[in-house]
Amino acid sequence: MHWSPLASLDDGEQQAVLGAARRRSFAKGEIVFHAGDRSDSVHLVVSGHFSVMVSTPDGDLATLNVLGSGDWFGELSMLGEQDPAPRSATIVSLDAAETLVLTQPAFHRLCESHPRIERLVGGLMAARIRKLSADLLEARYVDLDQRLYRALLDVGDVFGGRDSGFTIPLTQEQLADLVGGTRPSVNQVLQQLAREGIVQVARGRVTVVDEQALARKAGR
Ligand code: CMP
Repeated sequence: MHWSPLASLDDGEQQAVLGAARRRSFAKGEIVFHAGDRSDSVHLVVSGHFSVMVSTPDGDLATLNVLGSGDWFGELSMLGEQDPAPRSATIVSLDAAETLVLTQPAFHRLCESHPRIERLVGGLMAARIRKLSADLLEARYVDLDQRLYRALLDVGDVFGGRDSGFTIPLTQEQLADLVGGTRPSVNQVLQQLAREGIVQVARGRVTVVDEQALARKAGR
């Protein structure tokens, strides 16, 4: 069986993950766990989407990232020799979603018996660190409009389905969090993109109708 969230693993490895995990379903808006919680498991996203949220100095929750099928979360506190570290972020389902959950002992046993699985999770973490470095650089040196163009393309990848445009079901507040801007400034950039016929803006979502034009503006 070839199972898409685990596409880079062979059949034996996929079966090992499926055999060690149990499935969990989430309705839209459910909190999987809070930042600071005790950690006891790691999740692989099967379907749907989750936001990774952290508290701002004002006490609000801000969206740091969006995860979709094939992404793992909860792995950060699982790695290392000592007791699991507390959760580094709050995870909230953005729509009806499903994960495969591995308890910490099951995850460790799986990594020992199938080292490529540990490398897969490590590879995803490496990609996240690269993205964080790029985000940090952009936050310092790239204008908000450019940051938003790039974020729309990146988040579009997570939400998939790009044949004739794609819809990002995030609020302008969430988009502002992702690019480190304010909601009004993000709204201004989106309205300009809408005037140029590149996006359509509706309540709680943005549809990119001309991905090529957006990619050109993003310098990609
Ligand atoms: P953990 O610390 O166990 O719980 C919160 C999880 O959120 C963390 O593991 C990661 O899986 C995930 N996470 C934390 N920060 C980010 C980030 N910047 N981008 C994507 N995922 C993250």
